[in-house]
Amino acid sequence: MKAIEVKNLFFQYEDLPVLEDINFDVEEKDFVGIIGPNGGGKTTLIKILVGLLKPQRGTVNIFEKPVSAMNHHIGYVPQSFNFDSSFPISVIDVTKMGRLNQSKIFKNSAEDQLIAEECLKKVDMLTMKDKLIGNLSGGQKQRVLIARALTVKPKILILDEPTASIDSKAGLNFYELLHRLNEEMTIIMISHDIGVISQYVEKIACLNKKLVFHDSKEISREMLEQTYQCPVDLIAHGLPHRILDEHEHNH
Ligand SMILES: Nc1ncnc2c1ncn2[C@@H]1O[C@H](COP(=O)(O)OP(=O)(O)OP(=O)(O)O)[C@@H](O)[C@H]1O
Ligand SMILES: [Mg+2]
Repeated sequence: MKAIEVKNLFFQYEDLPVLEDINFDVEEKDFVGIIGPNGGGKTTLIKILVGLLKPQRGTVNIFEKPVSAMNHHIGYVPQSFNFDSSFPISVIDVTKMGRLNQSKIFKNSAEDQLIAEECLKKVDMLTMKDKLIGNLSGGQKQRVLIARALTVKPKILILDEPTASIDSKAGLNFYELLHRLNEEMTIIMISHDIGVISQYVEKIACLNKKLVFHDSKEISREMLEQTYQCPVDLIAHGLPHRILDEHEHNH
């Protein structure tokens, strides 16, 4: 079954065209990486997939139904989420916030507590549940945000540019975590790090206003150069790819 089906999608902010004729399918339990330059439209596409933005043209189906009927099946970890270090809210409460749009009125039910604890356990953060979110490291915050997204019991998990470092200390590292979650759900991950992404995902989509979907993680130099519009180094078959140029200057 197709988890996501996007057809002839166009999107613009006022008079700025951002997405042009996007077409792709994501199969259930796929692990897809989306790469592309800054401003290429990655976050915009994700916001359309989760129903936060409406495209001017085209259709998006989630498990064969319109997004509006299905967005409660999607867990979304946004690109930037800064907690001030003095933000007086605990890890467990941040996690429970994920339940807000599940129950129409906020009720701090025993069930929400249980689900939040379960989700923190999945990301190896249960022991920190009473800490203040602002006091956690970047990678720990990221895990809590994933736990928060998991509280809706999503069929699809979408991560916009997770920045967590791949820690080598005891316990699951970030990508082991994603792989374990991928056994139960479809995952879409945006990343600038082609090296990381090509090692972990199954399929890659390159997005720069237009989208090229690769049904494997083998991506060619031509594909990348077309997307990034700058020289890209494919080190060797099966090894991490590296972008040579900085992206401040678009050629
Ligand atoms: N709310 C908005 N209103 C107007 N223009 C916007 C808005 N959000 C994004 N844009 C513009 O749309 C284009 C695509 O932005 P988007 O955030 O989707 O890119 P991105 O691929 O996620 O970039 P990055 O890699 O930097 O996160 C950019 O030119 C951006 O300036
Ligand atoms: Mg973005």
